[in-house]
Amino acid sequence: MKPLVDRWALVTGASRGIGQQVALALAEEGCRLILHSRSVEATAALAGRLREQGATVHSVAAELSDSAAVLRLADEVGALCGSLDILYNNAAVMTPYREDYLSAVPADYELSFRVNTIAPILLCNHFLPKMMARGWGRIVNVTSGIKDQPELMAYAASKAALDKYVYDTAPKLQGTGVTMNLLDPGWLRTDLGGPNAPGAVESVLPGALVPVLATDGTSGRWVSAQDFAPL
Ligand SMILES: NC(=O)c1ccc[n+]([C@@H]2O[C@H](COP(=O)([O-])OP(=O)(O)OC[C@H]3O[C@@H](n4cnc5c(N)ncnc54)[C@H](OP(=O)(O)O)[C@@H]3O)[C@@H](O)[C@H]2O)c1
Repeated sequence: MKPLVDRWALVTGASRGIGQQVALALAEEGCRLILHSRSVEATAALAGRLREQGATVHSVAAELSDSAAVLRLADEVGALCGSLDILYNNAAVMTPYREDYLSAVPADYELSFRVNTIAPILLCNHFLPKMMARGWGRIVNVTSGIKDQPELMAYAASKAALDKYVYDTAPKLQGTGVTMNLLDPGWLRTDLGGPNAPGAVESVLPGALVPVLATDGTSGRWVSAQDFAPL
């Protein structure tokens, strides 16, 4: 039997791109899905497709730059599923490319940290204690291998801060049955990655599920999805 059957999974940013691939793969594993984006309309087609395949699916909406909305989202998810088993923090924003890399404005940093760092951390902090109390949980925070691009520093720094949260929290999870890891999808052709990215969005699979399916109890791993992509 597949190990994730009937597990409840929240995928943020499930309306397109990598989040959509992750949602499809989790449904294939038998998970019950809560699909997040900024509007329920944006995940309606995916929800319909998954239901046709027999999955249990809910759509939820929240603007992740608004911390109060993030906390409402957490409560809504709890009310929908009772107990969340898998938190896939995937949603993120890319900040403008600042050719003059010293010209990034505070708003670049404020938005990227709100959506890419604070929102996933709030969701982790909300669901971690509940998962630990039940002795099982999987959290994946989607990061980025971006480096040496100061033109995108607001985005890059927000991901580095998320990495720090995962690395420094990981020791607390040892022996709890709950894991929290990082997933670097690789540079892929999505709205965020742009049309010149070398990889197809589908190549995030099967690697994106590696930290969910892992049974060794390890937290604080950096998983590169492209290491598992079919040649
Ligand atoms: N693509 C790449 O090359 C690449 C490389 C490294 C890392 N990543 C990471 O992979 C993840 C997914 O990226 P992607 O390329 O799939 O991006 P994408 O295609 O642009 O999709 C972004 C998703 O995030 C949601 N989102 C964006 N801003 C939001 C906000 N303010 N509040 C709530 N939801 C919001 C979007 O929902 P709406 O429908 O509401 O817009 C959408 O579902 C991100 O964490 C990204 O940093 C991507």
